[in-house]
Amino acid sequence: MLKFGVIGYGYWGPNIVRNLDGVEEVRIQAIADKSATARQRAAAKYQGVRVTADAFEVISSTDIDAIAIVTPVWTHFELAKAALENGKHIFVEKPFTSTAVQAEELINLAAQKNLQIMVDYTFLFTGAVRKIKQLLQEGKLGKLYYYDSIRVNLGLFQHDVNVVWDLAPHDLSIMDHLIAEKPEAIVATGQTHLNGVEDIAFLTVYFPNDIIAHINVNWLSPVKIRTTLIGGEKKMLVWNDLEADEKVKIYDKGVEITNREGVYNLLVNYRSGDMWAPQLEQAEALRLELGYFVDCIVKGQAPFNDGASGLRVVKMLEAASQSMRRRGAISYIQ
Ligand SMILES: NC(=O)c1ccc[n+]([C@@H]2O[C@H](COP(=O)([O-])OP(=O)(O)OC[C@H]3O[C@@H](n4cnc5c(N)ncnc54)[C@H](O)[C@@H]3O)[C@@H](O)[C@H]2O)c1
Repeated sequence: MLKFGVIGYGYWGPNIVRNLDGVEEVRIQAIADKSATARQRAAAKYQGVRVTADAFEVISSTDIDAIAIVTPVWTHFELAKAALENGKHIFVEKPFTSTAVQAEELINLAAQKNLQIMVDYTFLFTGAVRKIKQLLQEGKLGKLYYYDSIRVNLGLFQHDVNVVWDLAPHDLSIMDHLIAEKPEAIVATGQTHLNGVEDIAFLTVYFPNDIIAHINVNWLSPVKIRTTLIGGEKKMLVWNDLEADEKVKIYDKGVEITNREGVYNLLVNYRSGDMWAPQLEQAEALRLELGYFVDCIVKGQAPFNDGASGLRVVKMLEAASQSMRRRGAISYIQ
């Protein structure tokens, strides 16, 4: 049995607690939240679980092996550092930290103490992303050309982060997982309209081998859209996460240049074949992810969504912020 503490029972915390509760090898020992209403909700639902206002009571508790940190981004570093110092494995919400320097410090600390870090990239565990990863690994799409995503809706406005730090970690983590290349540079533009942080932004990410990605994130859209296009030399796909069935559609479409002798002699063949929608696994992503975290702890193995993957995404977010401040000047990723 692995004994868990959870810090933060606001919007996302209840999903973490419910899914942890569903993992057989887990016992939830304590939930901490500063808010009295959140504590009341937690206590009403999980009788027998200790509920406290003090995160450090959970962190220093000797009957806890691992802690899920489900609080706003700016609190992650302090809580995660204290948890690692107290010998706890940590499951940290996305984005991992507010800066790359903080992420590096946590990674080093975890390595010294032989503890696991997992960053919650829920999407990587969805049937859709798992299938897309499989298709790419099997070479079904051919050489990858682009990743193009639109992730927009009205709200939820965050107070501590802009729309890039709120919504783009989803796409950046998916790209980090799917594209087997290290991003080189980012160009980002965005605008602030209401509460002093950018509420709409456009990111372009350059990868080696002519792969390009574009992400459109927006809190001011009248409709919710969660659509990603992924184009390859052999096939192209559309992932519409709001579709009930057939979220991923693969198109046997493409373009082939058959003769390159001069611009006027270009012979372009357009291929337009079948479309098919693969069967996707239905299991709840968070449940799979938390089960995998427990496995990793038990086996002493780093998960693929570990601190290092958290750091890679934070570096992209920092580069995007830097570019956005300079109205789209290119920002290189170290
Ligand atoms: N993986 C996902 O799909 C997903 C979805 C939503 C949110 N998130 C992430 O989850 C985190 C939390 O987001 P949210 O929307 O639930 O925020 P929220 O503001 O709704 O909830 C955060 C809770 O943490 C509590 N809290 C803050 N500091 C605390 C402290 N030091 N000790 C104890 N309690 C404290 C607050 O009282 C609040 O109840 C963020 O990092 C966000 O990016 C991830």
